[in-house]
Amino acid sequence: PPGALVLGIESSCDETGVGLVAGGKLLGECTATSMDAHARFGGIVPEVAARAHLESMVPAVRTALERAGVDKSDVEAVAVTAGPGLATALTVGIAAAKAYAIALGVPLIGVHHLAGHVAADTLEHGPLPERSVGLVVSGGHTSLLMLGDLARAPVVHLGDTADDAAGEAFDKVARLLGLGYPGGPALSKAALDGDPEAIRFPRANVGKYGFSFSGLKSAVARWVETAEGPLPVADIAASFQEAVCDALTAKAVAACTDHGVDTLVIAGGVAANQRLRDLAEARCAERGISLRVPPPRLCTDNGAMIAAVGSLLVDAGAPWAPPGLSADSSAP
Ligand code: KG4
Ligand code: ZN
Repeated sequence: PPGALVLGIESSCDETGVGLVAGGKLLGECTATSMDAHARFGGIVPEVAARAHLESMVPAVRTALERAGVDKSDVEAVAVTAGPGLATALTVGIAAAKAYAIALGVPLIGVHHLAGHVAADTLEHGPLPERSVGLVVSGGHTSLLMLGDLARAPVVHLGDTADDAAGEAFDKVARLLGLGYPGGPALSKAALDGDPEAIRFPRANVGKYGFSFSGLKSAVARWVETAEGPLPVADIAASFQEAVCDALTAKAVAACTDHGVDTLVIAGGVAANQRLRDLAEARCAERGISLRVPPPRLCTDNGAMIAAVGSLLVDAGAPWAPPGLSADSSAP
């Protein structure tokens, strides 16, 4: 029924996310992360992530229910990330979601991870307008999308990255600068004390709506290798961040203008970046575009965003997932 209470489960990477949403409203959530377990490897280890999901899943569901003030018998549908993501990690979330759906006798809904990132914004700012441009920037994706009604209309793909994802570039450059893992938050913190104009790093131009960040990463690496004296880490970080945010916002705003769309939604882990939010806000204001970005805690992976898609689908009367639902790790 419309307004049904949906339990959302996310396990595509290193976050075990659980959220409860009804009628598009977030009631409670819980996120457990295995980030620290991966730190010494400098990146996510799929088997480590999968084991951590297994350990965290039931406690995370219990905590989310408690925070929402509901009982598990109140849950009317279970939504789970089907892909894309790490196959071993996704499999744990899907197994858990199936178990809850069967035990509670409620439908199971498979959700696309990127739809989740976009839908996170609806929890804060309400339903999306009829048409909007979406920029999804995460550790695995950098996609420019034409969005309609998330539950009914197909998503039109405008552009993508030719190589590294924006978040991946943040992570790699942070490692180059010895800032540790995960790179995005560490690098943006270092950039606070730097001059974004100190070094003019290249802005790759790949077609109308395409991105490329590997050349930028190499440019930073070359700069670091040839630098003499102590490394101006803050200036490098700020200049790199500026190059990424400049490219992302310029193309996203151009896509809105070209298509006569007056709303831009930026989502995914990199949308937590304050410089990206500020630059997007300034450029959107210049063109009369209204900018929507979820609060930072809903930008990175979480279960609430998956429950949000589930809630939209339930309310739209969409069909639920077949019992054989399995991980689609490279879902387009
Ligand atoms: O969406 P997400 O949590 O997971 C994926 O679906 O990939 O995004 C994680 C990515 C990582 O690459 C992380 O470094 C980046 O988002 N990230 C940031 C910030 N917070 C997270 N990048 C730049 N600035 C941030 N504040
Ligand atoms: Zn994500």
